[in-house]
Amino acid sequence: MDQSPHPGARASLDAHAKAKLDQLQEYRLRRSLAETQRTGVLEVMRAGRKLISFSCNDYLNLSRHPDVMLAAKDAIDTHGAGSGASRLVTGNHPLFGALEARLAQIKGTEAALIFGSGYLANIGIIPALAGDGDLILADKLVHSCMHVGAALSGAKVVRFAHNDADALAAALVGERAGARNCLILTESVFSMDGDRAPLGAAADLAEAHDAWLMTDDAHGFGVVTPDPAAARAPLQMGTLSKAVGAYGGYLCASRPVIDLLVNRARSLIYSTGLSPADAGASLAALDIIAKGGELTERPLANARLFTQLMELDEAASPIVPLVLGDAERALALSEELEAAGFLVAAIRPPTVPEGTARLRFTFSAGHSEEQVRALANAVRAGLAGMT
Ligand SMILES: Cc1ncc(COP(=O)(O)O)c(C=O)c1O
Repeated sequence: MDQSPHPGARASLDAHAKAKLDQLQEYRLRRSLAETQRTGVLEVMRAGRKLISFSCNDYLNLSRHPDVMLAAKDAIDTHGAGSGASRLVTGNHPLFGALEARLAQIKGTEAALIFGSGYLANIGIIPALAGDGDLILADKLVHSCMHVGAALSGAKVVRFAHNDADALAAALVGERAGARNCLILTESVFSMDGDRAPLGAAADLAEAHDAWLMTDDAHGFGVVTPDPAAARAPLQMGTLSKAVGAYGGYLCASRPVIDLLVNRARSLIYSTGLSPADAGASLAALDIIAKGGELTERPLANARLFTQLMELDEAASPIVPLVLGDAERALALSEELEAAGFLVAAIRPPTVPEGTARLRFTFSAGHSEEQVRALANAVRAGLAGMT
């Protein structure tokens, strides 16, 4: 049989792609990959220029910490570059057990499970726990991978107003009785707004309505003092890709839940295990984070200095948004800052809701007070030039 594609198929595919791209361009929403070499703890090279980054999630700069880099190299020397298979086949190398035990100990849970990334964790965990006949209540600003996990599950999904415990309560009163099981999704620190969820109120409501609270701690771990109520969530998800400085995702939970996920989470079962280097690096980084102290306090202190200088609401985390409204304005200010020597990415829909395009500043331990002051001056100058 002739296997050649339909003669018009390539042309129609390309035409489809181009039409979609033109549409994105028209709304200033087209994205592209800019080669960015991270040359130091804070410095990046882009288009031949050295910039100070205020856009990395490497909050503690551990991706370049000598102990973390050495641990990654040692793991490669001992275990090789890749895991070679799914963890359920031959990809479950010895560092995983140690990393899972360490995470469970840190979060105070019975067990933990490592995934290939935070994204893979959320799109695997949620459909493994909820399905047809169940209910998922999601804060409307949770990360894309929680929304995708919820959509994949087949459960009824209701989004409630951001960080609004009354809206969550109303959704529980209105919807819970009609569902078998109920999962509530929120984040400890919201990735694009930097604000913190009312976890105490969410845990009270979850317990009162027999609902399972799942928190995503991607941007809280290692950089904000954990909310005491965080431990009341039976499902504590997080990532090794931000403050931990490596790559990978995890869930901390009870032993039965973890054992169920080993059997049901498709992104664990049908995907190759995390690389040994990432597991080794993460273990070394967790040791550094466990010591706490000034290192883990500095990102928030820098963010607070910035919000004070800019006369914004006091930062609740190392993430500070400056909402500019339309994508054009966000891109223009990002370009101004780049010209002044700072890398601050513009964040546009659909990553954030329509009409809330913004600059998202992330502060790390390594930023100096002078750098934060210089950034604030540049932002002020850029804003003044726009009005
Ligand atoms: C809140 C949140 N959850 C999950 C993820 C995904 O984590 P990872 O980058 O490890 O895939 C991100 C990444 O941006 C995030 O911000």
